[in-house]
Amino acid sequence: MDTVAVVTGSNQGLGFALVERLCRDLGPDAIVYLTARDLARGAEAVQQLESKGLSPRLHPLDVTNDASVTALADRLRAEHGGVDIVISNAAARISKELTPAEQVAAFIDTNNHGTFRVIRALGPLLRENSRFLVVASGFGSLKNLPPHLHDHFDTETKSLEEMEHLMDHYVRLVETGQATAQGWSEWINIPSKIAQVASIRIFARLMSEEARRKGILIDAVCPGLVDTAASRPWFEDMSSAQSPSQAAVDVAWLATLPAGTAEPYGELVQHRRIIPWR
Ligand SMILES: NC(=O)c1ccc[n+]([C@@H]2O[C@H](COP(=O)([O-])OP(=O)(O)OC[C@H]3O[C@@H](n4cnc5c(N)ncnc54)[C@H](OP(=O)(O)O)[C@@H]3O)[C@@H](O)[C@H]2O)c1
Repeated sequence: MDTVAVVTGSNQGLGFALVERLCRDLGPDAIVYLTARDLARGAEAVQQLESKGLSPRLHPLDVTNDASVTALADRLRAEHGGVDIVISNAAARISKELTPAEQVAAFIDTNNHGTFRVIRALGPLLRENSRFLVVASGFGSLKNLPPHLHDHFDTETKSLEEMEHLMDHYVRLVETGQATAQGWSEWINIPSKIAQVASIRIFARLMSEEARRKGILIDAVCPGLVDTAASRPWFEDMSSAQSPSQAAVDVAWLATLPAGTAEPYGELVQHRRIIPWR
């Protein structure tokens, strides 16, 4: 059976480099979906890879739209009967022109609820020896939040739905100016990335029996600093940043670990090493 891989938010940045990497690593028989919320941008990205002799397939995907995520799942089920590699990478950027209160709802809807939609729709399609990754960040460790907030992220007991409600609560706190007084970070990416990692830990916990039986790996991954249009405005000196192609190597390594690999499982991984949750 040919390997089927999907990368969300892959018309530019790290996602685009991941599609290129997977096309090369998996070889010409693999089916690699380049997904984009804007079909024209997606088609242009596919053309760029075709000019390098690669053949990704284009699929429209907006992770803020339930029907769009379901349509991708329906296509994967109908055309392939499942999926082998899912990389949930799509992310909204933080704008310097907007206050946190002005952008937090859209940001969380894409980065957190979007991850949840992908877990819910594509999780049931995971085949034997499949790999499910969410691209998070080193910010996604609990040590970046004060201890009195840690119980909210108890991944041993919480459900995915509770994590969704927590993020809606966080949005309201930011929008009403109460988040900082309650100890939440000013930088909305930190609670968002912690919740992404928490969601993947919860998903891994819920899937643990099936994952063991079928050889499935579920992890969060931090690519390190990558020179993309999302990160560039925030750093004066990007000389230490990786290019997207460089950053894609270690992420693709995790996504293509050979059958029989049992670990890492339910972890946050950066450059092939586990970042502790606490
Ligand atoms: N860059 C870094 O240094 C860095 C560091 C740590 C972690 N990360 C993580 O790596 C991932 C990729 O980041 P990046 O720097 O490559 O960002 P990017 O250049 O902004 O790319 C983000 C991608 O997500 C897509 N996207 C945005 N909203 C979407 C939606 N609603 N539905 C589907 N796709 C959507 C964008 O599409 P459009 O082109 O249509 O906007 C774009 O293709 C993110 O999860 C980010 O948090 C990045």
